[in-house]
Amino acid sequence: MSRLNGKAALVTGASRGIGRATALALANDGALVIVHYSSAAAEALAVVDEIVRAGGKATAVGADLGTADGAHVLAAKVREIVGNRLDVLVANAGVSNAAPIEDLSVEDFDKLFAINVRAPFFLVQQLLPVLGDGSSVVLLSSLAARAAVGTIYAYAATKGAIDTLVKHFASALGSRGIRVNAVAPGIVATDMSAFTKTDAGQQFALGIQSLKRVAHPTDIAPVIAFLASDDSRWVTGDTIHVDGGSKL
Ligand SMILES: NC(=O)c1ccc[n+]([C@@H]2O[C@H](COP(=O)([O-])OP(=O)(O)OC[C@H]3O[C@@H](n4cnc5c(N)ncnc54)[C@H](OP(=O)(O)O)[C@@H]3O)[C@@H](O)[C@H]2O)c1
Repeated sequence: MSRLNGKAALVTGASRGIGRATALALANDGALVIVHYSSAAAEALAVVDEIVRAGGKATAVGADLGTADGAHVLAAKVREIVGNRLDVLVANAGVSNAAPIEDLSVEDFDKLFAINVRAPFFLVQQLLPVLGDGSSVVLLSSLAARAAVGTIYAYAATKGAIDTLVKHFASALGSRGIRVNAVAPGIVATDMSAFTKTDAGQQFALGIQSLKRVAHPTDIAPVIAFLASDDSRWVTGDTIHVDGGSKL
């Protein structure tokens, strides 16, 4: 497929999990992919290598999105690479933290909001000058934004904020031809949902899903690639649930 030929895409948190699968999918569609990572440089370079060996184009860029200027630093690096045009921004990097209400610290709460909400907000802000007509922004929401699953209260609130942001961003940026959407996965077998490696964890996932298998990052990436492409040209301000029919 070549629906992203000649386009440039940034995928944050692309060293592992859903971000990695998304980087591979966008590159397979023809995009030059900027593979962002925080600390896992070797893993990010392996993703770049896999893309290049398959005949695609990619480069890796590191930045800690938990710092106050992390999004600004990353945006500056991205603009050095792409020049005056970025076509696709997938703000995927995220962290989770399961803890009873009584146990979550202020530091943990702030870290969740810094990486999951502040960073996507300021990435969009800092990349606006190079996002133009036909650009697509995809943010990562979660099943947790609409349903009580586990003890991930503050994490769930960060994803609720994402669902709100996409509507406001889409409304503000539509006149510039920029679409903004979110994808809300359910439970996906990644490092973040490492409990899916246990029998009990798998049973928990199957128990809340209509479809009876554990999801993999490759179940999510094609939907992000669809939102990145012109095939979704009339979709904006929406959150697409990609969760095998969880908590119906
Ligand atoms: N897995 C699920 O069940 C699930 C469900 C719903 C929504 N989601 C959402 O989907 C997205 C991807 O999740 P995942 O499961 O693929 O996660 P993951 O496998 O744990 O990977 C997280 C990614 O985020 C990056 N990251 C972590 N802390 C960062 C920081 N301070 N600065 C910059 N990047 C940082 C990591 O980079 P390094 O490798 O360099 O550390 C990594 O690439 C997240 O937004 C998550 O909330 C996941």
